[in-house]
Amino acid sequence: MQAGSRDGSGPVWHREDGAAGAVVDGDVLELASELARRLMARDDEPTRLPEPAELEAALDLRPPTEPRPLGEVADRLGRLLEFTPSTSGRRFFNQLFAGRDEAALLGELVAVIANTSPYTYKAAGAQVLAERALIAHMGRKVGWEPCGGLFTPGGSLSNFAAMVVARNERLEGVRETGLDGRPAAMYISAEAHYSLPKNAGMLGIGRRNVRSVKTDGEGRMLASALQEAIRRDIDAGVVPLMVVATSGTTVQGAFDPLDALAEVTRAHGVWLHVDGAYGGTLLLSEEHRHLLRGAELADSFTWDAHKMMGVPLTCSVALFRDPEMPHKHFDETATYLFQRDDATYNPGRSSLQCGRRNDALKLWTAWQRHGDAGYARRIERQFALAAYARSVIEAEPRFTLVKRPQSINLCFTIDGVDAKEVCHVMDRAGRARVSHGTVDGVSTVRLVCLNPDLREADFDEFFDHVRWAADRLLAGSPEG
Ligand SMILES: Cc1ncc(COP(=O)(O)O)c(C=O)c1O
Repeated sequence: MQAGSRDGSGPVWHREDGAAGAVVDGDVLELASELARRLMARDDEPTRLPEPAELEAALDLRPPTEPRPLGEVADRLGRLLEFTPSTSGRRFFNQLFAGRDEAALLGELVAVIANTSPYTYKAAGAQVLAERALIAHMGRKVGWEPCGGLFTPGGSLSNFAAMVVARNERLEGVRETGLDGRPAAMYISAEAHYSLPKNAGMLGIGRRNVRSVKTDGEGRMLASALQEAIRRDIDAGVVPLMVVATSGTTVQGAFDPLDALAEVTRAHGVWLHVDGAYGGTLLLSEEHRHLLRGAELADSFTWDAHKMMGVPLTCSVALFRDPEMPHKHFDETATYLFQRDDATYNPGRSSLQCGRRNDALKLWTAWQRHGDAGYARRIERQFALAAYARSVIEAEPRFTLVKRPQSINLCFTIDGVDAKEVCHVMDRAGRARVSHGTVDGVSTVRLVCLNPDLREADFDEFFDHVRWAADRLLAGSPEG
């Protein structure tokens, strides 16, 4: 079925609902909801992706010289979505985000339509206040009241913000006069996220000055090894800048012992940052927040709402125990922009960006809907699903769990086949998307049990796909 476009010319918007002659008059909200409806209808379908070059040729993605009717553009968008794997359905276990939270989605859609930038109260009004309310609430969950903070486009950049502040605080004068060659180092665990060395490369700390501290048998940073590494640097005249502890490591979901690490950092006057991009959300669960015991002793904290909280990408906060830190290290003068109100109500004076998306509104909307109690229940559900998946792995003679899981990531191997290949075979067939990760040098399937809307049956199906792929590989016909 075809319908006319807004200007009545050229190609048209196609409807599949059978409404004869139905016209979608180019109304953008209607077009968007139609596209969304189609996308969501495919959430649980297998998506087989062609090779990238093949798809590139088939879609012809070049911007045109002449304008196109909106309806035709919507058709083209629809085509793109047909070849976009769903991250919200039953077949997606690949990332530290999954599912679709309708309240957060509502806030996100409204934020896009409002299209303001929360750098000033003048431009964004109440949206600035909502952002402030969230930062204060999240800070309280860490144990800081008052607390400073800023929204950033992701955990990598929340870590970046904390690293800027720590570097500037520890190397006095650097913000004004630049790096002066003083040797300095920072410390992360061997399991920490790659954004940390990457940021060190961008910040003039230097990737080689990132010390990788040994972990224990469960992937947690060893306080004794940290103590030794800092001691060694001090003896060699190197300034220990900061320690980054991870609460929820990317592959294993491990939690560093924050209280023990804080003892070491406090003894040496070193900045302690917690990368809670993944596991920070556990602060909302009375049952599981013990994994972050000692968080209040840190100096800064990264918390991604787009991971365990299910808020659409991106939504991340960098929190600071000292409320003055963001303003002290990120403020600039811009008379064309900051024209009324003080820094308190002009978040642009303590943020990384100038114009930015309002990432707070979707989190604010979702939190209004769920409350602290709803998030606690969501976490219980994630852990319950992980416990179920673990029971399946442990009952299956062909599967081996490589580590006792601390949270909702399960890393397991499959007898006789490389886990990495199993993941590739399932992906190419479009059956399920799951990542592989190396644990103690062994390639494992990293199953993330993050989407609370899944059922146990979805995990049963997932494990069937794993068995299917392993059998294909054992039979020597991975594409079979
Ligand atoms: C522990 C940890 N820190 C930081 C990040 C980076 O977060 P983002 O993808 O939001 O930049 C990730 C992402 O997986 C992570 O697992």
